Amino acid sequence: MSAEPKPLEARAVGQPLTRVDGLRKVTGTATYVREFQAPGRLHAVLMTSAVAKGRITKFDAGAAERLPGVRAVFSHLNGFEWKADPKPGQDGGIRIEERLPLSDAVISYGGQIVGLVVAETLEVAREAAGLVRIAYTSETPTLVAADAPDTATKPAKNNGQPLQFSKGDGEAARADRNLRQFEGTYTTPTETHHPMECSATTAWWVKADRLVVYDTTQFVKGVQNILALAFGLPRENVRVICPYVGGAFGCKGPVWPHTLLAAAAAQRLGRPVSLELSRAQMASCTGHRSPTVQRVAFSAKTDGQLQAIRHLTESLRSPVGTFVEACGFGGAKVLYQAPAIEFGHTLHTVNVAPPSFMRAPGEAPGTFAMECAIDELAVQLGQDPITLRLANDPLQHPTEDKPFSTKNLSRCYRRGAERFGWSSRTPEPGSMTQGRLLRGLGVATATYPANRWNATARLELRADGTLRVQCAAHDLGTGAYTVLTQIAADALGLAPAQVQVELGCSDHPFGPVAGGSNTTATVGSAIVRAAEALVAKFAALAVRDERSPLSGRKPEEVTLVAPLRIGVTGPPGASENLVVILLRHGLSNLAADGVQERSSGGQHAFQSFGAHFCEVLIDPAAPRVQVRRVLSVIDGGRIVNPRTARSQILGGVVMGLGMALMEETIYDPATGLPVTRNLADYHVPVNADVPEIEVLFEGEPDLAFNPVGARGLGEIGTTGIAAAVANAVYHASGRRVRELPLTLDKLL
Ligand code: MOS
Repeated sequence: MSAEPKPLEARAVGQPLTRVDGLRKVTGTATYVREFQAPGRLHAVLMTSAVAKGRITKFDAGAAERLPGVRAVFSHLNGFEWKADPKPGQDGGIRIEERLPLSDAVISYGGQIVGLVVAETLEVAREAAGLVRIAYTSETPTLVAADAPDTATKPAKNNGQPLQFSKGDGEAARADRNLRQFEGTYTTPTETHHPMECSATTAWWVKADRLVVYDTTQFVKGVQNILALAFGLPRENVRVICPYVGGAFGCKGPVWPHTLLAAAAAQRLGRPVSLELSRAQMASCTGHRSPTVQRVAFSAKTDGQLQAIRHLTESLRSPVGTFVEACGFGGAKVLYQAPAIEFGHTLHTVNVAPPSFMRAPGEAPGTFAMECAIDELAVQLGQDPITLRLANDPLQHPTEDKPFSTKNLSRCYRRGAERFGWSSRTPEPGSMTQGRLLRGLGVATATYPANRWNATARLELRADGTLRVQCAAHDLGTGAYTVLTQIAADALGLAPAQVQVELGCSDHPFGPVAGGSNTTATVGSAIVRAAEALVAKFAALAVRDERSPLSGRKPEEVTLVAPLRIGVTGPPGASENLVVILLRHGLSNLAADGVQERSSGGQHAFQSFGAHFCEVLIDPAAPRVQVRRVLSVIDGGRIVNPRTARSQILGGVVMGLGMALMEETIYDPATGLPVTRNLADYHVPVNADVPEIEVLFEGEPDLAFNPVGARGLGEIGTTGIAAAVANAVYHASGRRVRELPLTLDKLL
């Protein structure tokens, strides 16, 4: 990898710039995938299976095909030939569902795609779908781990990280009668992403071998590569466009079957095809968070020093796709120090749609279990839960042999405790009241790793003094357009208004999946590198131009010395404006690329931490949990934009409150179909559920991580919240609920 660039000099960075795409969004000129037109496009509707395990024995599309306006009904009987079964991995795109769609009569889960109706209008396509007669042979599906005990596997790795880990002698510690022993089992339910914008694809073969796809995706380059492989095309013959995303939370990271089907149907019919999933189909066709069962054990000295930690997770996979909900990564791997630490993960195969990554995959449920367990241990030891945490807070990564680059969890707790009024808390459960309501205060640690993946950013300085930035990355609504504008502005000393960031198109240089909270660190670093490369190009032009005051200087002496100015420092100083150089050379622009490479290694561990504080009120007569207020103090390195950063944490906290109190995907045990498949049955927090949430940031720029010093904030807000709520509920009521969501029935 090339040398690290110099730390960015922060001018625009750190300012609460309003969203650069805000006006486009509120005026409706930001074009979302479903709004792109394609001439003569057809409309497609997916048909999904009514059983969860079995075979299709009859697929009679006769009546549907005879309906005027219907152009085709596709099933396994007349399905598609694929040039390849792409499983490229990492930067080549992500496929979680391994089976190619409509490839045979086998049904592996409820809601599996079994047919596709294509018609001139959406209404005709819907009506035709209702006329298709499908029959199945069906067996009782297995839906929970207990149904499928023989399927247990212990996968070795997730994204290259070991899933099974053990150090020290935990067994000895757990047998030691001089130590305090704690063991608890925690469960979390299936959760579904349900972004506002349902997944959709418009596929358009503009030539026999050229495909344009508007796709709701977090990863245009991944979609491009997978479609190119599936259709046997050079990658550049596939264009994937997705400038705006109406929420994703992970469900738009992989390429799911509907995208392949839309492209294949468009090819077969010679017309563009638009396909949008219904809200109900979002419950089975674009992944979900696996339910988990987590067993946590602690052995501690009576003063609270942890001697052994064990964190064992069971989660589910589908017969047609593997994903591990790596709870240990957000638990025993990283949270507390002890001589003996063990974590492990077991998968069971059941007849459910493929689990996949959802905001803070692993860390969200993992922090629920660990951060409830440490709270229970604090109660057992008679210690304050913050004191116990800080007594075991490592500055050295507890399972990797290196220090955290920067870590300020103790400052997060101290500042939060002061601000939240923690010292007024009386530890006895039920000891705080407000009228007839029980009042409880709880805390929990938030954590998420800092990822830095591959990206190339292209910077183009134009003769009008504006800068264009291109990368095939994404703004999922997170603020990426805005924070990358700020970083690019500072990299060349421009005002943000002179910078135009273009994302979400596969024509741009490589951008990573908008996942793992990596975009700011990855693309921001690529931008800083591109700015250095651009300065070098300008320097090369100037030093060999006798009309330039920099003529004859060594190019390596020349740096950016002031906004838009390169020069040499020290006597005799000389400098020149970049636009003047362009104009004198008759250039309309000059461009350079900057490459950031994936790196997880190095001498530091990069991980963000934070402290959540939560207050709940519970009416003993009808014990629905009301969250009264939340305070989150987060150390995410440099905060590039306090406004969008706060918004990321707010959104994460709200999602965590949903996880804590209401979100749960329920499957009908008879059919295996998800029954909570609309937003009336699948509850997410609405405004009335959301209390006062305050967000504070702690810490310093993480300059060992990247020249911007930022670690990413997309997911950490969601971690730890469910535990903070559960801990507050215990404090209010004395009831320890180890099973999410924390619904009223569990407190009766
Ligand atoms: Mo996010 S679940 O890493 O797309």
